[in-house]
Amino acid sequence: MDSILVVDDEPTNISVLVGILGERYKLFVATDGATALEIAQKEQKPDLVLLDIVMPGLDGYQVAEKLKSNSDTKEIPIVFLTAKQDTESIVKAFNNGGSDFLSKPFKKEELLARVQNHIDAYCLKQRLKQQKKHTQTILDSQKSIIIETDGEDIINGNKAILCFSGMESIGDFKKKHKCICHLFKEQEGYIYNTENQNWIEQLIANEKQGRDSLVKMTHAQTNEDRIFLVEYKLGRNYIVTFYDVTNHIKYEERLNREITEALQKYKLQQDTLFRQSKSAAMGDMLAAIAHQLKQPINVLGLYFQSIAEDFRYGEVDEAYLENYEKKGMEQIGHMSKTIDQFKNFLKPDKSKRRYKLSLVINNILSLMEKQLKLHSITVDIDTEEIEIFGVSGEMEQVLLNLIGNSKDAIFKLQERDMELEGRIKISAVTGKEGVVIKVSDNAGGIKKENLEKIFDPYFTTKGEGGTGIGLYMTKTIIEDGLSGTICAKNIEDGAEFEIVLPKNL
Ligand SMILES: Nc1ncnc2c1ncn2[C@@H]1O[C@H](COP(=O)(O)OP(=O)(O)OP(=O)(O)O)[C@@H](O)[C@H]1O
Ligand SMILES: [Mg+2]
Repeated sequence: MDSILVVDDEPTNISVLVGILGERYKLFVATDGATALEIAQKEQKPDLVLLDIVMPGLDGYQVAEKLKSNSDTKEIPIVFLTAKQDTESIVKAFNNGGSDFLSKPFKKEELLARVQNHIDAYCLKQRLKQQKKHTQTILDSQKSIIIETDGEDIINGNKAILCFSGMESIGDFKKKHKCICHLFKEQEGYIYNTENQNWIEQLIANEKQGRDSLVKMTHAQTNEDRIFLVEYKLGRNYIVTFYDVTNHIKYEERLNREITEALQKYKLQQDTLFRQSKSAAMGDMLAAIAHQLKQPINVLGLYFQSIAEDFRYGEVDEAYLENYEKKGMEQIGHMSKTIDQFKNFLKPDKSKRRYKLSLVINNILSLMEKQLKLHSITVDIDTEEIEIFGVSGEMEQVLLNLIGNSKDAIFKLQERDMELEGRIKISAVTGKEGVVIKVSDNAGGIKKENLEKIFDPYFTTKGEGGTGIGLYMTKTIIEDGLSGTICAKNIEDGAEFEIVLPKNL
């Protein structure tokens, strides 16, 4: 129930007022100014004061003045009720803080209407004040800086901005900095007022383009630069929130640095492995070349031995010499070609270009030809005309590893079974899923328990005879260099490796 303090020195007046107001309101009554002030100070304050002007002791004006000068009571509306009707008195009443003025005699309905009006306005004001306080408490409890601005001046802010800027109140802040943007550090990548745009315009433009807005400010106490993510909402003014993301960004930077370092380290290891595997492959290659060169050297040896004897028998004439030279040069040509191919393999040419798969296969096979023949290994090739975009040297290494492994496995079987005819099949087709290259053999296959380990680095079943890097490197080249896949399985009498390269290569 709303309450009214009725102040009048005339008991008859009071009883009339009690008669009119008593039913609707809770009433406090005072017959002099001093008692009225006492009652108004009490905890349960009236929602309105009905104040007579002429009273012994403190008069109505003085009571009003005192009520208005006290922060506890200054909001309570005062309605003067007096027999005075002159303008001077009315003006004085308003000047002393009166909200309204009613002349006696008054009409009951008018009194009730005015009183209720003022009480409603007062209660509404009180509620608004309460609500504002509540909202400010919520804002102050936020860690992020929240401000209200019209785009140029700061209108309000929460406690966080005071802590950050070392100010006591928003009033102090406004005195020193018109706008929060005075605290922004001018740095690329962060927003601040530029010649073309102010910070709010940049904020809006960034949001429209889905970009983050970052601001850098220095903490007043710690002198540390902090980074804020800024977001805004538009109501009557801009409500702008500054989230401190410094730790987040530092963490992200550290993570990025660590990833880059780890990647560099990984690449270095990878390069070392690559070199190791290349030199291991070179060992195989040298063995192949030794076989390859042996034949022409033998032939040349026989030639040299035969010429002296043929001369003694008188067989050396011009035609003989011509033929002798031609045959000798043929052998030397073989040897030179072998060395060229080997040189090609050694070339650290890493540039990507389009190459014919069949040429790479032939190159590798012609280097290994003699060695394979010696162990009665035949190679079936069934390839379509396929072009691949990449480093041809890498594909040579892949094939060398796979064919080399098949050859090793066949040699091993032949240790027990001399008669075994080794067979290696190489096929390449372009299918729906891309280029499919298969290398298979008839060397008994891979033990089931080893199948998932063979692509691991350093996994070998050859003891000192192998490094275990071959298939690991093969997989790396296929996956990283050519964005393809490789897998192994056992077939009827041996192992089969299947490489799938994406179509657009
Ligand atoms: N065609 C195959 N038949 C049977 N086993 C195979 C075949 N290919 C690979 N393997 C098995 O996979 C293992 C790993 O092969 P990988 O090429 O990685 O190393 P490695 O041949 O042992 O040594 P490196 O190639 O470094 O000289 C081999 O030791 C072998 O046990
Ligand atoms: Mg190998």
